[in-house]
Parts: sequence; C-alpha cells; structure tokens
Amino acid sequence: MDAKQALTGKAALVTGGSRGIGRAIALRLAADGARVGVHYGADAGAAKETVAAIEAAGGQGFTVQAAFGEEGAVDALFAGLERELAGEGLDVLVNNAGIASVHGIADVTEAELARLLAVNVAAPLFVVQRALSLLNDGGRIVNMGSVASRMAVSNQIGYTVTKAALEALAPTLANDLGRRGITVNTVAPGVVRTDMTAHYLAVPELVAGLESVAALGRVGEPEDVADIVAFLVGPQGRWITGQTLDASGGTWLGPLMPAPSE
Ligand SMILES: NC(=O)c1ccc[n+]([C@@H]2O[C@H](COP(=O)([O-])OP(=O)(O)OC[C@H]3O[C@@H](n4cnc5c(N)ncnc54)[C@H](OP(=O)(O)O)[C@@H]3O)[C@@H](O)[C@H]2O)c1
Repeated sequence: MDAKQALTGKAALVTGGSRGIGRAIALRLAADGARVGVHYGADAGAAKETVAAIEAAGGQGFTVQAAFGEEGAVDALFAGLERELAGEGLDVLVNNAGIASVHGIADVTEAELARLLAVNVAAPLFVVQRALSLLNDGGRIVNMGSVASRMAVSNQIGYTVTKAALEALAPTLANDLGRRGITVNTVAPGVVRTDMTAHYLAVPELVAGLESVAALGRVGEPEDVADIVAFLVGPQGRWITGQTLDASGGTWLGPLMPAPSE
C-alpha cells in the first residue's frame, strides 16, 4: 500500500498537535490521508499555522482548543471535536500534549506535581474515557511517554513520575479495547529538538553529552518520532498493542566499549 493512502478516510486527533512533536505527527498523519484535529491549549496561532501547513500540503485538518488541567477541559475538547466530526467516529487518538518541569527531589513542590499529573496523566486518561464511544473499531491510541521512565533524570523527578504513570495505561487499555481491534501503545522519545528542550539544547556541552549517550549519536527531531507514530497507527501497526516503543535513537543503552585490541 502507498504510505500516502494508509489513513485515507480516517479521522485523527493529536493533542498538543500545534507545536513540536505533536505538530510533526499531525503533519505526517495528514500526509498519510487522515483528517487531523490539531489540539492546542493556549497558542491558537501555532495551531492555525499547523492546519495551514497541512492544507498547503494537500491535506485536511482543523483546530480544537482545550486547556488541560483546567476545569471542564476534556468536555471542551470533545464539544469541539464532535462538532467537527459531525457524527463520524474517530480512528486515531494521539495523547501527545504534555508539560515538563525541572526540579529534583529537594525542590519539587506539591503544586508542581499536581499540575504535572493533571496535564500529563489525568487529561490523557479522561480523554481516552471520553473517546471510547467515539472510537471506531480497529482504531488506534498512542500515548506520548518518555525515556525518563526508564532512566534517571535527576532534575525532572515530577515529570518522570507522570511519564511512568502514563506508560502504565497502555497494557490495561490494550486488554480492555483489544476485542474491538483497537491498539494502545506508548511511544517513548529521548531528547527531541522542540520548544520544550530549547533552553538546554542551546548549551553545546549539554548537546554533546546527550549525543554521547545515544547509540545513533544525535538528538532527535520531531519527525523521528512522528514516523514511529505513523507506523503504529497505520495498517502495518495492527499487531502491536500494550507496548512501549523506545523512540530515542538508542539513548542510554550502556557504555560504548572500546574495540578489543588484536
Ligand atoms: N521534546 C522532548 O525532548 C520530549 C522527550 C520525551 C517526551 N516528550 C513528550 O512529547 C510531548 C510533546 O512534547 P514537545 O517537546 O513537542 O512539547 P512542546 O513543544 O512544548 O509542545 C507542547 C504541546 O502541548 C500543548 N500543551 C501543553 N500544555 C498544555 C495544556 N495544559 N493543555 C493543552 N495543551 C497543552 C501545547 O499547546 P499550547 O502551546 O497551545 O499550550 C503544544 O501543542 C510531551 O508529552 C512531552 O512530554 C518530549
């Protein structure tokens, strides 16, 4: 099958589809033929730009707003989504919207952790709950995890906890929805060049350090992750469910051992 037609006739929602990794996913799914709901929280301009880029490439998209962590956000999301879908079901749900914070165990606050949990865990969980009746049989759910759930990241302890919790959804949801042919997986990127990471990717020493612990020797780009999501949500991903797929270019696999001398 031509990759361009893999999602023709399908409807997709990408939360946080306006910027960064979500934007690349929205563009890729639209290029594969899906009509894509580009969700955003605050930056309407970025969401409109993403839809404009989708349309300029010959695809179809629309924006939908909801500020996760605020009262009624999931209701607002589905009100907008259902209006746009006009009675059609949803085929692909990508729970990508997320926030980070940079505190370790000595400094993390209750308010910070509560906000991280609300946006990174509660929002996607209740988005899935609301999507259950909208999702077509054979549909796909992808949650955006992080390598932070398998390696120590001292200054992001709250974020790490939320990504581990999010990752824990997929096996249960996969069992619950599998008889409908719906797959549920987590994609776990390493460091990717987006607004979220711009502050430390501006520091050459930090970039060099990150490159040195990735088997493929570089920092990720949003498209590296989008291609993996496209595989999972396309027809070729039909037999993978309940899994976490590392999308980190082999980050932190172990030390690079020197070649043994002859
Ligand atoms: N970048 C990395 O290195 C990396 C690595 C591993 C995992 N991830 C994960 O990948 C996902 C995307 O990250 P990114 O780097 O692309 O982030 P980003 O560039 O900061 O973009 C975040 C997206 O999420 C939306 N969003 C943020 N807070 C929101 C809220 N409270 N309510 C609704 N929407 C909200 C933003 O929309 P608005 O601007 O309108 O709020 C934006 O579309 C996140 O889940 C992140 O944890 C990223």
